[in-house]
Amino acid sequence: MGNPHILVLATGGTIAGKAGSATRHDYRPGQIGIDELLAHVAELDLSAELSGRQVANIGSEDITPAIWSALHEGIVEAMSAPDIAGVIVTHGTDTAEETAFLLDLTLPTTKPVVLVGAMRPADAVGSDGLRNFANAVRVASDPDAAGRGVLVVMGDRVFAARDVRKVNTRGTDAFRGYPRESIGLVTPSALDWFGAPWRVGEAARFAYSPDLPEVPILPIWAGIEPDYVARLTSPQTRGVVVAGVGEGNMPDPVRQALKQLAAEGVAVVRASRIDQGLVDREPEDEANGFVAARALNPPKARILLQLLLAAGASDPAAMQAEFDRR
Ligand code: SIN
Repeated sequence: MGNPHILVLATGGTIAGKAGSATRHDYRPGQIGIDELLAHVAELDLSAELSGRQVANIGSEDITPAIWSALHEGIVEAMSAPDIAGVIVTHGTDTAEETAFLLDLTLPTTKPVVLVGAMRPADAVGSDGLRNFANAVRVASDPDAAGRGVLVVMGDRVFAARDVRKVNTRGTDAFRGYPRESIGLVTPSALDWFGAPWRVGEAARFAYSPDLPEVPILPIWAGIEPDYVARLTSPQTRGVVVAGVGEGNMPDPVRQALKQLAAEGVAVVRASRIDQGLVDREPEDEANGFVAARALNPPKARILLQLLLAAGASDPAAMQAEFDRR
C-alpha cells in the first residue's frame, strides 16, 4: 500500500507567520502560502502524500462565516474523494477551538479531520510549526482518528474539538482539554490514543448553515449595569450566551432581564467566564427558561446554540440535551 493522501486546507495563522527576524517579538500571521509550507514539509520526508489548497491566509481573529463555509465545503468534498485519507486544516490558534467545534458538529466522522497551528512563527527560534504539522500528518493518516470527531493537534497532544481550549497566550504548551484532557499523545514518530474511538461512523450532528443566527456573548463583571442586556441585544438576536461569574452566576436584575428575553423566545444559555468547571442545570433554570452550558466555554456554547437555532430548536429541555451530549 502506498502512502496515504492527505489534503491540507490552509487558512493562515502563526503556523504561516513570519517575524522577519528570530528575535522580534511581534510578527505577522498568514505570511507563508500553502506551497511554501508544503515545500518545507517535503524536507521532513513524512510517510504521506500531501496536496494543499489555500482557503485563506489570515490571523484567525479575522475568521469569517464565509471561510467556515469554504472549509466545510472542501472537507465534505474530500470525504467523498476515494483517494483522500484525511484532511488537515492549518489555522491560527486564537480561534481554532471555535472552527474545530463548528466542523465537529457539522461533519460526519468518516475520515480524520485535524486542525493544527503553531504558537511561534516559522522563523522564530524554536518554532513549533513544522513539528506540530508533522504530528498532524501522523494523526490524519491514522484511520482510527476518524471516529473521534474533529481533532486539534498542538504541543505533542491530540484534543477532541469539544474539549479543546487555548489557555495561554504564549508558549508552545498553550492548549488544554476540559473536561477530558488530551485524548492522545503524538510525535512525528509515534501516536498513542487513550481509549477507543467513541463516534465511529457517525453522521453529521447538524446540517451546516452558512447563515448562523445572531447570538451575542454577555460577559458578567462585578458591578455590571442591568441595562447591558438591552445594550447587547437587537431585534435580530435569537439567543444570548452568558459568560457568568463562577458557576454561570449573574446579578438578579440581569437574570430578570434575561428571563424576560427567554419568555419572548430568545434562547439563553448560562456558561462561565472561568476556564475550568461545569455549569450544571439548576432548578431555577427551568423556571427562567435557561439552558446550562455544562462543560462548554462561552465561544463554543455560542456555536452550539447557533446551530440549534438554525435547526429550528426552541425548547430549552431539548437544547439542554445537546449541551449534555458528548
Ligand atoms: C492567530 O490565531 O492567527 C494568531 C495566533 C496564532 O496562530 O497563534
